[in-house]
Amino acid sequence: MTEPTVNPLRSGMRMQRTPEPCTMVIFGATGDLTHRKLVPGLYNLQRERLLPPGFSVIGFARRDWSDDYFRQTLVEDVQEFSRSGFEEPLWQSFAEGISYNRSSFDDPAGYQALAEKLNALDAERGTSGNRLFYLATGPESFTTIIQQLGAAGLRQSPGGGWTRIIIEKPFGRDMASARELDAEVHKVFDESQVYRIDHYLGKETVQNLLVFRFANGIFEPVWNRRYVDHVQITVAEAVGVEGRGNYYEQAGAIRDMVQNHLMQLLTLTAMEPPGFYEANSVRDEKVKVLRAMRPLAPDEVAKYTVRGQYTAGTQAGKPVPGYLEEAGVPAGAHAETYVAMQMFVENWRWAGVPFYLRTGKRLPKRASEIAIQFRSAPLMIFDQGPLNDIEPNVLTIKVQPDEGISLKFESKVPGQLTQIRPVTMDFRYNAAFGVESPEAYERLLLDAMLGDSTLFTRSDEVDASWSLITPILAGWQNAPPPEPYAAGSWGPRAADEFLARAGREWRRL
Ligand SMILES: NC(=O)c1ccc[n+]([C@@H]2O[C@H](COP(=O)([O-])OP(=O)(O)OC[C@H]3O[C@@H](n4cnc5c(N)ncnc54)[C@H](OP(=O)(O)O)[C@@H]3O)[C@@H](O)[C@H]2O)c1
Repeated sequence: MTEPTVNPLRSGMRMQRTPEPCTMVIFGATGDLTHRKLVPGLYNLQRERLLPPGFSVIGFARRDWSDDYFRQTLVEDVQEFSRSGFEEPLWQSFAEGISYNRSSFDDPAGYQALAEKLNALDAERGTSGNRLFYLATGPESFTTIIQQLGAAGLRQSPGGGWTRIIIEKPFGRDMASARELDAEVHKVFDESQVYRIDHYLGKETVQNLLVFRFANGIFEPVWNRRYVDHVQITVAEAVGVEGRGNYYEQAGAIRDMVQNHLMQLLTLTAMEPPGFYEANSVRDEKVKVLRAMRPLAPDEVAKYTVRGQYTAGTQAGKPVPGYLEEAGVPAGAHAETYVAMQMFVENWRWAGVPFYLRTGKRLPKRASEIAIQFRSAPLMIFDQGPLNDIEPNVLTIKVQPDEGISLKFESKVPGQLTQIRPVTMDFRYNAAFGVESPEAYERLLLDAMLGDSTLFTRSDEVDASWSLITPILAGWQNAPPPEPYAAGSWGPRAADEFLARAGREWRRL
């Protein structure tokens, strides 16, 4: 069943984003994501009256929990993680729609029981056959669940209504496995039913990047190779692997962060204006950027990428262990916890403009940003002596924390001398609007219920992204181990040298 894509421009902008009544089935309902993000996010949506009447949740997992016990575990999480506080009466009415379906993912009987529950909810709570499946599980379970949903006849509901499936990251671990998974998905679901989630796209500033670029007339004319010297995209984490050493050793920073989050930030920064703000128009432009990017040749991988791994160090004044000493990290582990790389977007807008990406764990602070560094003035008529600190203009889109945008430019220091110093013009979300931004998952859950896939990754987009990452993985196979860097530092020295060779330096955040 193919669903038409929502076009808010043609259908008139939705003033009130309330979806049709539906049931959301969460596979992996006893897990971390469900408890920390999904259910607190749903509760916030309920609080803002954005969920439809009769909205229901069925948790699906293996633990022997009752409906009541499941609800009880969720109360504690909503109290701890909901950004909008906790209200008992509101929770009570929300919790009426929550139930639990105990089953292993590979047990057909569990899916028959699920189908019966879904039909019963349609009758009892008026959910009209509308179903949203959420795969909040490790990637090793995706194929099993999808096959079982297909075998149980759950690809669409018997009495009509829509069926959609949200698939968590990571979508594959290289090109071949991503294609294999995609083929399994498409055996059961049509692409229009599939919502591959990258929660970075639910972040307010990431969406604002499109508004900033395409709702303003003054930035687009300089958003190209004539004015931009280079782009730096940073996703820095202060945390280590947090007990997920086994997973992390299989993934490393490139699969965990670059293939998804950093590539999303890059494509939104580099894409052409779409004809409409609508799912396929936006995603077409993102795919074009990925296809315009040159995959690194095997002998270029060492030149354009740097890998690092943190060793013991100090963070916020406290000693922290190195990656190899972290719980769950197997002996002889070799995953990179830091990666820096240069990527090339070879189209008329960006030819010759380097895109530098970096991400790492146990860096001095948590900070994600996109920095557009502009070329210097063509001729400097002011003295460039020691009194003057002349730096290039930088436009920074701060994704987290302190979401906002700042522009650095040169200014005259007050006084009789012509002394020059950089200053910034700052826009901060919280200060400007006085309201807290919703959590990324809130926006994305609501969009999936509304059938708006603009902020979800399309099949060809995942494929194009892996076509750039897979050659790097191959190039690293016989490479020396990652360079060590002390926890609490900004990564390995090799990363600084890498930019210094191009006459540039990483931004100090
Ligand atoms: N945690 C986060 O903040 C976060 C953020 C972004 C993305 N993600 C992604 O979200 C997904 C889930 O992550 P998570 O941290 O929530 O994982 P998790 O805590 O390990 O939870 C896994 C869930 O899957 C269930 N499960 C596993 N095997 C099962 C089986 N054979 N049959 C039935 N249930 C089974 C577990 O149920 P039982 O415990 O009952 O066995 C548990 O509910 C991953 O793909 C991850 O990459 C997570």
